[in-house]
Amino acid sequence: MEKDLIIPTHVGIIVDGNGRWAQQRGLSRSAGHREGFTRLKNICIYAQESGVKYLSLYVFSTENFKRAKLEVDFLMNLFVSMFHTEFQEIMDRGAKIVFSGRREPLPKEVLEAMDEMAEKSKNNTGTVLNFCINYGGQTEILDMTKKIAQEVLEGKLTIDDITLDTLHDHLYQDLPPLDFVIRTSGELRLSNFMLYQASYAEFYFPKTYFPDFTEHDFDAAIVEFNKRNRRFGGNAS
Ligand code: FPP
Repeated sequence: MEKDLIIPTHVGIIVDGNGRWAQQRGLSRSAGHREGFTRLKNICIYAQESGVKYLSLYVFSTENFKRAKLEVDFLMNLFVSMFHTEFQEIMDRGAKIVFSGRREPLPKEVLEAMDEMAEKSKNNTGTVLNFCINYGGQTEILDMTKKIAQEVLEGKLTIDDITLDTLHDHLYQDLPPLDFVIRTSGELRLSNFMLYQASYAEFYFPKTYFPDFTEHDFDAAIVEFNKRNRRFGGNAS
């Protein structure tokens, strides 16, 4: 990483292109996901070393359950086996692991592995790694709305008490806003990723398929972020 660059506090990555990467090589989609995982692990470590404080990773959307059962089962098994093995090193480096998304209908084994990682790393003070699994941004806003409505019904809150802080406090995780969102594979969409948190994020869409997204590509993304003039709705400087 070049010196004197501003490192965004909260980076989001929409992991995309594993399937196309595999198809290009005549491999199975599963092979693409396995390779994608290896890259993901290395990028997590590199982002930690680079000083990123929060890293949100969109690895399985609510809509991904519509994929072929074979692929969904493969990904669920990959989550379980990798959470039990490969993540120890990341936690040993101080990362705190949290999850965003609905628990239903994730398999019991996946939920147990997730709970175990969250519990083991809850007192870690390093980079927060937020894995978005069975996640949808609209569903997060719906779930937040229901929690707040319930509190109003129970008399714990009045309508006038509801502020932007109230909304923030009822999201899945207590995270700062996203500064920078990277989506690999050349698709120019947000696809329901952290809609609330991405309000003032900068976006970057490299054409690289995720299994080819290296530490060097991550550096290039940070250089690009440094060229942006963030105004948050204010005047151009
Ligand atoms: C998108 O590529 C990728 C996914 C839906 C899965 C990403 C999951 C991993 C990299 C594994 C993560 C593992 C852990 C333990 C967190 P795609 O399949 O949509 O690719 P395509 O658009 O080219 O078909």
